[in-house]
Amino acid sequence: MRTKIVAGNWKMHKTLPETITLINELKSIIKTDNKVEVIIAPSFVNLSKAVLLLHDFPISVAAQNMHFADYGAYTGEVSADMLNTIGVNTVILGHSERRAYFNETDDILQQKAEKAYEKGMLNIFCVGEKLEDRTAGKHFEIVKNQLKNALFNLPKQAYKKIVIAYEPVWAIGTGQTATPEQAQEMHKFIRETMAKKYGYDLADSVRILYGGSVKPTNAKEIFSKPDVDGGLIGGASLKAKDFNAIIEAAKS
Ligand code: 13P
Repeated sequence: MRTKIVAGNWKMHKTLPETITLINELKSIIKTDNKVEVIIAPSFVNLSKAVLLLHDFPISVAAQNMHFADYGAYTGEVSADMLNTIGVNTVILGHSERRAYFNETDDILQQKAEKAYEKGMLNIFCVGEKLEDRTAGKHFEIVKNQLKNALFNLPKQAYKKIVIAYEPVWAIGTGQTATPEQAQEMHKFIRETMAKKYGYDLADSVRILYGGSVKPTNAKEIFSKPDVDGGLIGGASLKAKDFNAIIEAAKS
């Protein structure tokens, strides 16, 4: 039995005052239970405040990125220890926006995934194809290679702290969600790919989230698919009411 996860990726949204407001709103409406784990990923500068505000509430705080080095001359970067020591033990890695705008390659992501494992962080690892890949019928191959190149050198035990997020690039921020069938088809493929590499028990235990224009109106149907274990939510996670409705959809 895989517990569902609903994670909000706030991207480059919300100043400190806005972060405080949104977290307080979330605390007042979200009814957490053991059916769903809730995670939010505010910007780096607001992580400490988010951790403080949530010390008495079961929402975890995640970073949207981190560097693979322990420390050093990497201007503008943030390390795993910096995150862990402020109480942030979860990190989103390989988001398509990081891959597209900040040139994150599979090789870089492999190093980041290794660091997350070494430092005991929960790694929400994103994969997903572009529209042209899907049109060309290459989506399975692309996703398989993203998994293989960045994660498949990790040992089995690393997967206790890995969640896969399937986010088709063409569905992110476009309002064009993958159909529940398209999501299920890819999630099943990801699970089979994991099974071939690590065995069925491990594949069966790994949680696979769907991301890309998830909204209160479509969340329930997407989450009802057998291989969809929750969602990674962008735009709709910035409104407390919508995010809460998506969390509620994951409970049913
Ligand atoms: P949207 O929900 O805004 O499409 O974003 C999805 C996403 O990129 C989450 O990481």
